[in-house]
Amino acid sequence: MNNNNKNTELLGESVPIVELRAIIKQVAPTDVTVLITGESGVGKEVVAKEIHLQSKRSNMPFITVNCGAIPEGIIESELFGHVKGSFTGAVESRKGYFEAASGGTIFLDEIGELPLQVQVKFLRVIENGEYMKVGGAKTEKVNVRIIAATNKNLEQLIASNSFREDLYYRLRSINIYILPLRERKVDIKILFDHFLEQFTSRNSVIFKGITDEAMDFIMNYSWPGNIRQLKNFTESLITLYNEKKIELADVLKQLNISKQENYLPAQLNGYERQDERQLLFGALFELKKDIMDIKHQLNSIEDNKLSAVPEKGFFLSDERIDNISFDEFEQELLTYYYNKYQGNINRIADKLKISNRTLYRKFKLYGLKNGKAY
Ligand SMILES: Nc1ncnc2c1ncn2[C@@H]1O[C@H](COP(=O)(O)OP(=O)(O)OP(=O)(O)O)[C@@H](O)[C@H]1O
Ligand SMILES: [Mg+2]
Repeated sequence: MNNNNKNTELLGESVPIVELRAIIKQVAPTDVTVLITGESGVGKEVVAKEIHLQSKRSNMPFITVNCGAIPEGIIESELFGHVKGSFTGAVESRKGYFEAASGGTIFLDEIGELPLQVQVKFLRVIENGEYMKVGGAKTEKVNVRIIAATNKNLEQLIASNSFREDLYYRLRSINIYILPLRERKVDIKILFDHFLEQFTSRNSVIFKGITDEAMDFIMNYSWPGNIRQLKNFTESLITLYNEKKIELADVLKQLNISKQENYLPAQLNGYERQDERQLLFGALFELKKDIMDIKHQLNSIEDNKLSAVPEKGFFLSDERIDNISFDEFEQELLTYYYNKYQGNINRIADKLKISNRTLYRKFKLYGLKNGKAY
C-alpha cells in the first residue's frame, strides 16, 4: 500500500493527452468508479492521482493497492481488515485499505490479479459501499471513491474464467484507455526534455547536448515500457554519458539494441498488432533489413569492421549445468529475463506464463528489485 499525495504533472501535448485531461476534468468531481487501462508504464497511476487531486476528496487519503503484489491468502484481510482472533496470527484487529481510504480514493492497481472470491466482495463495495471484515459479524459501510487499473485484457480473463463478467461491466462504465507512448510521438520529446531538466537540476549534472540522429531515434523508438522506461532511460543516459554530446551509439547501447535492430520501425518493435499497416511495415522492414544485411556484408568484406553484434542469449556452461540446483537455475533464468526486459514484470510473467503474483514473490526471494525498475 502506498499513501502519498505527491503529484506528478500529467505532461503531454498530443491530441489524446489533451482529450484525456478533458475527461479527467469531467469525471473527477463525481464519485463514479473509473477503470484505467493501458500498457505498463503509460501513466495509469498518474491519471488516478490526478482524478483524486481534482476531486472534492483531494484533502483526504489516496491509497494505492497493488492487487498483484499481495499474497493471495491475505488479500481479503488487507483490503477489508480483520477482527481479532479471526485466524491464527490475528492477535489484533486490523483496519483494511478500504477503511484507511475512508473519505478519500482507493486505487486498485492490477485489478485483474484480484482472486475470484475477493472479486465478489469487491463488487459489493462498489455497489453500495458495504463490506465485512474477515471474521467480522457486522456489515461495515465506507465512503470511498474507487479507481481501478489494469494492463491485462479483462475480456480475455473473463473468457478464461478468472475475472467476473458482472464486475467487469460495473467497472467499465467509465473506461479511460491511455495510449502507448509510441502512438503519441510528440509527447516523447516533451517528456524527454522534462525528465532531462528534472534530473540535471536535481543532480547537478551538466547536459552537453544530443545529436539530431540520436534524438530522432528516441522519438521513433517503440518504448515497450512506455513513460517509465523513457524516464529511467533518460536518467541513466545522462548519468553515463554526460562528458560529451550524446550520440546514436550511446542511445543504442543504453537500450541494448544491436545495430541491426536499429532499423526496426517503431510500430514493430513493441507489442505487435496484426493489422494491415503492420503487415506492410513488416514486409518493408524485411526488405530494408535484407538490403542492410547485404550492405553490411559488403562493408565487412572491405574493412572487416561491421560484423553484426550477436545477441546475448541465456547460456550456462556444461560445468555449471552439472552443479546447478533447481533453485539456482530458476534464479539464473529469472535474472536473465529481468535484465532482458528491464524488470518489466508483465512482459516477464507473460513470457514465462506465470502470474504476476508468483513473479513478484520470486523477485523478492532472489533480491531482484520490485519489477518496476527499468
Ligand atoms: N503524462 C505523464 N507526465 C509525466 N510523467 C508521467 C506521465 N505518465 C507517466 N509518467 C511517469 O511515468 C512513470 C510510470 O507511470 P505510472 O506508474 O503512472 O504508470 P502505470 O501505467 O501505472 O504503470 P504499470 O502498469 O506498470 O503500473 C512514473 O514515474 C510517472 O511519474
Ligand atoms: Mg501502475
